Amino acid sequence: MREIKNITCIGAGYVGGPTMSVIAQKNPHLNITVVDLNRERIAAWNHEDLSKLPIYEPGLDAIVKKVRGKNLFFSTNIEKAIDQADMIFISVNTPTKTYGKGKGKAADLKHIELCARQIAAVAKDDKIVVEKSTLPVRTAEALKSILHNTGNGVNFHILSNPEFLAEGTAVQDLENPDRVLIGGENKEAIQALVTIYQSWVPKERIITTNLWSSELSKLVANAFLAQRVSSINAISELCEVTGADVNEVAYAVGADSRIGPKFLKASVGFGGSCFQKDILNLVYIARTYNLDKVADYWEQVILMNNHQKERFADKIIKTLYNTVNEKNIAFLGWSFKKDTNDTRESAAISVANYLLEEEANIIVYDPKVSEDQIYRDLDSLNTRNSNKNREMVKVVKSPYEACKQAHAVAILTEWDEFKTYDWQKIYENMYKPAFVFDGRNILDSKKLTELGFKAYVIGKHNN
Ligand code: UDX
Ligand code: ADP
Repeated sequence: MREIKNITCIGAGYVGGPTMSVIAQKNPHLNITVVDLNRERIAAWNHEDLSKLPIYEPGLDAIVKKVRGKNLFFSTNIEKAIDQADMIFISVNTPTKTYGKGKGKAADLKHIELCARQIAAVAKDDKIVVEKSTLPVRTAEALKSILHNTGNGVNFHILSNPEFLAEGTAVQDLENPDRVLIGGENKEAIQALVTIYQSWVPKERIITTNLWSSELSKLVANAFLAQRVSSINAISELCEVTGADVNEVAYAVGADSRIGPKFLKASVGFGGSCFQKDILNLVYIARTYNLDKVADYWEQVILMNNHQKERFADKIIKTLYNTVNEKNIAFLGWSFKKDTNDTRESAAISVANYLLEEEANIIVYDPKVSEDQIYRDLDSLNTRNSNKNREMVKVVKSPYEACKQAHAVAILTEWDEFKTYDWQKIYENMYKPAFVFDGRNILDSKKLTELGFKAYVIGKHNN
């Protein structure tokens, strides 16, 4: 197998962009080109002003500054990049299907298939093709079938190399991963990718498996993580009625080294592009093989998450004397977690939707999410027309403006800056009684109560 010199990554999104930036930084001898169909996105990656990069990730701008134009390039010329590559990462999005068989459950593989067809059409010499996107188990088989039936004599070796980075900590996770997982059939192809990671990842943290184990491990890792969040969220409801404090319970339970302390933070519900999609995928695969009990088991994780979002909205409505009609609810946070501008599946979207159904006015402040994105998220629900969304939801640039003359403030994302606001000032400018609904358990409810707020905190019996 020839030495790897040129790498192409198809898909300049939340996975492709940061991953290739770090690989480029750690491997100055490699030439890496990230391509995308989306011209605007590529232009943003090439923007001189690094604050205009399409993805906000702490530390990413500094890396891009170092390697862009040296051994990392962003381009829309997909064919040229495929032609020149020794190794091609496929890092395109695989959303849940919104049509046809498997609608609302299975992963939509049309982008992956398009990539495979394009690679097959363009490639003139042997290539290693790496699945980076999260995919249902046995997608590699479909990829293989498309690539091997091109009839042009080119050999393709397929590897699965799922990404475990979490948004907001992408750079840290890439630079210091718990493990790197590489699944494949061809030893030399596997070794070629191992060598790239070995530039900075200790050998013992690089796990190699067969293709299917690698594909399934990614879904299972996300399912287990999401399950922990749903488990603690289920307990948060119990805490609220019994007088236990969910933070204390999580701490006591997590102190058991067999359980561990991470991913036990009660919240308004998990979001992000992966958890729901991957569990739906797992459920779909299980049902395909008639494993209904397995499917039902994992489906509960999502049902619990939906319940958590709904009950948070219900709590607001009930507490505000059973009506939020024309009341002003300030939303602090819209992204699905702190330190990212990503809003995919964010709990804020569902909670807003419930409240808008009850004809509330919502005023949103998020430190990183744009006004356009917030309206796109609401419009994509198709629950009301876009004019109505713009009439009922306002997006503002300051938290104090959001909370001014609000009947209630709801914390939807755990941004650190929310803790340091002048809550006295916020209180003074709100309608009384002034309510705070802390969906992330980040504020000091005792202090808020002393200031005069009526505070509701997820998982605490203080309501
Ligand atoms: C996740 C996986 O962590 C990552 O390994 C995978 O590659 C992609 O999916 P991500 O979606 O970026 O990463 O974020 P993560 O930190 O896992 O959080 C997911 C959601 O769960 C967020 O909405 C977060 O707020 C919520 N969460 C997480 C909780 O509510 N409580 C917790 O204790 C942890
Ligand atoms: P992820 O979180 O998986 O990285 P994103 O949606 O952030 O998902 O990024 C996926 C990127 O892949 C998008 O920028 C999209 O334009 C790009 N993409 C999808 N299909 C293709 C394709 N066939 N060729 C090139 N780019 C593609």
